[in-house]
Amino acid sequence: MRFTRVLDGALDRSVALGYTKIGSRLRRTWWPPDPRPNAMAGKRVLVTGATGGIGEAIARSFAELDATVHLLGRNADKVRRAAGEIRRAVPGAVVIDEVCDVSDLDAVRAWCDDLDARIDELHGVVHNAGAMPKHRVETPQGHETQLACHVLGPHLMTERLLPLLRDAEGASVVFMSSGGMYTTPSPASGRYPQSADDMESKSGDYNGVRVYARTKRMQVVLADAWASRLSGDDIRVESMHPGWVETPGVADALPVFRVVTRPLLRDTADGADTAVWLVATRPESAPGHFWHDRAQRPTTFGWQRSEDRQEVVRFLDAVSSMTGTMRFNANWQETQHD
Ligand SMILES: NC(=O)c1ccc[n+]([C@@H]2O[C@H](COP(=O)([O-])OP(=O)(O)OC[C@H]3O[C@@H](n4cnc5c(N)ncnc54)[C@H](OP(=O)(O)O)[C@@H]3O)[C@@H](O)[C@H]2O)c1
Repeated sequence: MRFTRVLDGALDRSVALGYTKIGSRLRRTWWPPDPRPNAMAGKRVLVTGATGGIGEAIARSFAELDATVHLLGRNADKVRRAAGEIRRAVPGAVVIDEVCDVSDLDAVRAWCDDLDARIDELHGVVHNAGAMPKHRVETPQGHETQLACHVLGPHLMTERLLPLLRDAEGASVVFMSSGGMYTTPSPASGRYPQSADDMESKSGDYNGVRVYARTKRMQVVLADAWASRLSGDDIRVESMHPGWVETPGVADALPVFRVVTRPLLRDTADGADTAVWLVATRPESAPGHFWHDRAQRPTTFGWQRSEDRQEVVRFLDAVSSMTGTMRFNANWQETQHD
């Protein structure tokens, strides 16, 4: 037990070993048991960015566990293809096509209202949609795309879906972050975005990889705040990273990284594993709420400063005002509408 804990931690710190398929192959020998075969029967889940890569694999794994799956993408043709593929591959799968661009806040509001009119409860949400554009692109509301896709859209969607999540009487929300978030400090140092302009990456040259890491760090901070805010509602909120996974997104955004690491990259089912396990088994989770390979991981490494609460409040305030949602107070509870 102690040996596996030390080995697990060493894999994590080594990054290259832990994040590749070497990490999951080793950890599989000691990690917690799989969900029961029909663990999600009678349950309803939403997976965003599920038209390819890790999201499609998450949707498929949920269908294999007998969940009703709402498969969401921004391109109707891709949604139709991915949903059809899962229906063909998994006998009896119930997959519902959902089209919404999660970076478009008006589209998110309209889609959430529509979903609310169609269903009575929702047991799981995986905020998986992600992108790493090379150039700064703005959404219809004028937000930088990665901020909107990784942070603002999922935040707004979480708030709008709260009634459905509460009615499930035992739900989970998972933010798909990235190990890349470790390269951005937590909200404590002067390098963390200090203002709305900063968050929108308006100053200096746009660096897609750096903005990706920052918005992936924001997801971890946001999920932690949501976890506290909803702790009394039996809604668990977690963030996680999938390791390094062979996907169309990696091929497109990081071609050199892919060529170098390809033999060791995980397959998409492997990248999907922890998200599905978190929703299907709802493990106990401590503050931080950041997971990889079915175990909680630190949100900062030893040499990084820990979070400053005032900085976190400032960040959450900015997210609330950009999305027109409830504010979080210093105890992460909701206070007032913007
Ligand atoms: N692959 C890895 O090694 C890795 C590592 C760490 C974290 N992650 C995270 O895991 C998640 C999935 O990554 P992936 O590698 O599977 O990426 P991917 O192959 O690029 O797939 C991303 C999915 O998200 C969708 N999407 C993008 N923007 C969207 C939007 N605004 N609204 C709705 N859907 C949108 C894409 O749809 P379109 O086809 O229409 O673009 C696609 O279905 C991402 O959040 C990523 O940051 C991946």
